[in-house]
Amino acid sequence: MILVTGGTGRLGNQVVRVLRSVGLDVRCLVRKGSEYFWLNDTGASYFFGDLRDPESLSRALRDVRYVIAAAGVRVEKTDNNHKSVTADGNIALFEAALARKVEHVVFVSCAGAADPQDVPALTAKRAAEDHLVASGLSYTILRPGLFAANFADLARRAETNGSIFLPGRADAQVSPVHGRDLALMCMAALDLPGVRNQIVEVGGPETLSVEQAWKTMAGVANVPADTWKLPPTLLRGLTPLVRPFGRRWQNHLRALDAWFGRDHVVDGAATAARFGIPLTPFRDACATAWADRHPGEDPTAREEKVVHRQFVATIYEPGTIKYDALPEGPPPRRD
Ligand SMILES: NC(=O)c1ccc[n+]([C@@H]2O[C@H](COP(=O)([O-])OP(=O)(O)OC[C@H]3O[C@@H](n4cnc5c(N)ncnc54)[C@H](OP(=O)(O)O)[C@@H]3O)[C@@H](O)[C@H]2O)c1
Repeated sequence: MILVTGGTGRLGNQVVRVLRSVGLDVRCLVRKGSEYFWLNDTGASYFFGDLRDPESLSRALRDVRYVIAAAGVRVEKTDNNHKSVTADGNIALFEAALARKVEHVVFVSCAGAADPQDVPALTAKRAAEDHLVASGLSYTILRPGLFAANFADLARRAETNGSIFLPGRADAQVSPVHGRDLALMCMAALDLPGVRNQIVEVGGPETLSVEQAWKTMAGVANVPADTWKLPPTLLRGLTPLVRPFGRRWQNHLRALDAWFGRDHVVDGAATAARFGIPLTPFRDACATAWADRHPGEDPTAREEKVVHRQFVATIYEPGTIKYDALPEGPPPRRD
């Protein structure tokens, strides 16, 4: 059994699909308010828990051999933030995995964790990394940079607003990766001796500037490529000004500065060779990421595809659920 955290996320759902496509047993740690029902078609099982609830982690790990930790915090909430989830939550997960004698842990960290520079999104990743390395567990830590999906997010904004704010350095050199390729790397890392007990910087096959990457995505999505640039000096100037709205907005601006403002160049050919995975060209990754709109954004798909049921069982194994016995309606989000 493989426990996946973050299975409802952009990367995690691809991890679940890739593992299930080769018939591996997958258990997703999901929060009760999550839109986990998008994964129903995969046949993965669910365990309701939370990275901030160590007891739930211990129970989720019963009979688990491998863990893929792909949860993350994009924008912090008061009680769901880089410290409570990315650092403390993952550390609790690793402790529970050690107690349960898990054979190998794959942890999805982030480019920049090598040099966090007081950026909370990165210091939290680094704290979790350091704990995992020192834990005695067998591990692989992956440090991806930008995803093609990040540029698809920008394209959706351009489609609505006609232009976008492009944060960071337009000329920063990046190697954006296709989410599915990264999911394949997560799977490969479960038993690949060459990446055992290693921290691996990973990325896509091409290196290009943030601006070139954006223009490629805008062309693929056929949306206006017009940008309002938010260079690092402006982002840093804005950071203290958003303080009255809460520290999380400051942290978010600092994260954007780190993700879009730093060079993160990866040798794509070396990545492909190391994991034995042919990497998707960036243009194709853009096309998939653009087409791969979250079905939650499409009301028709939502009505047709989603089972609007709130699972009340602690653990759901496919085939055992009694749909008629469950309350109607989409589960409420918890935060
Ligand atoms: N470009 C990027 O976005 C990028 C770049 C480098 C590395 N990464 C890393 O890659 C990983 C996946 O990123 P992503 O973009 O796929 O993330 P995402 O779409 O924002 O998904 C985050 C996932 O984490 C889960 N989660 C949040 N708080 C949790 C908690 N307290 N307990 C359990 N699960 C919780 C979410 O569950 P809910 O459905 O309940 O919210 C969701 O499944 C993250 O670790 C991220 O830091 C991302």
